Amino acid sequence: MSVVSVTQWKSKLALPFLSRCLAAATRPASLVGIALLAAALTIPAAVAQKIALSVDPSKSGAKIDRNLFGQFAEHLGHGIYDGIWVGPDSAIPNTRGIRNDVVAALKAIKVPNVRWPGGCFADDYHWRKSVGPQRPVTLNPNWGGVTEPNTFGTNEFMDFVDQIGADAYISVNVGSGTPQEAAEWLEYMTSEQPTALARERAANGHPDPYKVALLGLGNESWDCGGNMTPDYYVSQMKIYSRYARNFNPAQHDASQMRKIAVGPGGDGPRWTAWTEAVMKAYQQHTWSWDINGLSMHNYTVGHWPPSYASVGFGETEYSQILKLTLETDALISKHSAIMDRYDPDKKVGLFVDEWGGWYAPLPGSNPQFLVQQNSMRDAVLAALNLNIFARHADRVRGSNIAQMINVLQAMIITDKEKMVLTPTYYVFKMYVPFQEASFIPVTFEAGWYTHGDVALPRVDAIAAKGANGKLWLEITNLDPDQPVEIEASFAGVTAKSAAGETLTAPKVDSVNTFEAPNTVVPKPISAKVQGGKLTLKLEPKSVTVVSVE
Ligand code: AHR
Repeated sequence: MSVVSVTQWKSKLALPFLSRCLAAATRPASLVGIALLAAALTIPAAVAQKIALSVDPSKSGAKIDRNLFGQFAEHLGHGIYDGIWVGPDSAIPNTRGIRNDVVAALKAIKVPNVRWPGGCFADDYHWRKSVGPQRPVTLNPNWGGVTEPNTFGTNEFMDFVDQIGADAYISVNVGSGTPQEAAEWLEYMTSEQPTALARERAANGHPDPYKVALLGLGNESWDCGGNMTPDYYVSQMKIYSRYARNFNPAQHDASQMRKIAVGPGGDGPRWTAWTEAVMKAYQQHTWSWDINGLSMHNYTVGHWPPSYASVGFGETEYSQILKLTLETDALISKHSAIMDRYDPDKKVGLFVDEWGGWYAPLPGSNPQFLVQQNSMRDAVLAALNLNIFARHADRVRGSNIAQMINVLQAMIITDKEKMVLTPTYYVFKMYVPFQEASFIPVTFEAGWYTHGDVALPRVDAIAAKGANGKLWLEITNLDPDQPVEIEASFAGVTAKSAAGETLTAPKVDSVNTFEAPNTVVPKPISAKVQGGKLTLKLEPKSVTVVSVE
């Protein structure tokens, strides 16, 4: 968990626009200043600020790995049970126990991978208890001490990712498990040879080996995953990397399983020391062990315990949370710089495999189930983070938003047979064209949106060229009150037409509910293309994606 104090962002405030006006206003007899201040405070809502974007499609950058749009599903609250798994005998339409409505929704956002079974749960998880016909009921000590029925285990998870068309990202138990347990789990999942474990898998319904694309070597081993020191973790990591082998013959080439080591959980010396230790070990690794990724966890929370409300908040909380989330950029830069020192060829990817807004539990919910609403603020937060990851695509090869269903910043909220798609879901849907696209630099003067003592860039934008050569542009208007007029030019390209969608809402805390599921849904946006340039009017607090031809 990353701990970011409110004072941190308060101390770094930049107030160029309003402070200039205020300074002028306090000068004696500065009627001009007073007039400026008055003008600043009374800009009519309909006046669109103009911002010029310049896109250079000839300067194609790193590929935006599809795994940047990954999901995370933990045995926590209703993330798995009710959210994914209802059981084959449920009246809720399902395929082999897995909800059909959820599968259809997730297919539409082309989920590249799902990280499972945790989180903290992973380091308490013993895989054998949830395969085969005998499934003992165990406890989930991390998340409310509730019972874990173990009805959703390896075969069910693999069926689920297969149904949604995603890859499996499995986290092995380094905290309370053993290398042998992890090695046997991998053998159970991936062996083609008729070993006892492979036969057990076949008897459980899957004769062919499973594909395990990503393997997490523990979770938060510095905290809930065993409270290890960096050196202790490094010695464990080497052992697990050595023995958790993938035997699937189909994964012995380019689609080789990638092993992800536990990485930092925030800012500060504790975390830089952790990254240093793992990367230094990597630099000296031998033939007998390897890692392909370093994990990073970075929640936008403010302070612990999480106290920002997920709904029923105003512009102050909106601007504060966005300010906090933008610090992700500096955090990634800091840890990337350490990685560059030990791995200048960027062989080890950074995987931000837990991120998102973490707010106070919804009143009336079990506080251990991490239930929160998902608002327009979360849509903007998601877009800002995805843009940060895309800008760092040379190092960031994956990210997993926490969490997919019913927990924290979810894509989907369910209640028995009901399901609603959140604003964050729609952002992931709009960003599908960016999967595997090549990053293209965009230059612009963002201007400032200020509220109280918070100053934020008014807009954010990224561009990319899709695998089919199509040009895509995303622009976020952070200002909750003012529209923005964008004029985009494309070096060497005369734009002829543009089409796309925009996501906005009446209020910063607008949400979709079971009763009103279409409050925050994308709508087509009209774009004007003239003289090779694209003009777009962006609504306040909006996320927009357009393709340009
Ligand atoms: O996502 C909830 C929890 O946050 C995860 O279990 C843990 O890894 C992190 O601290």
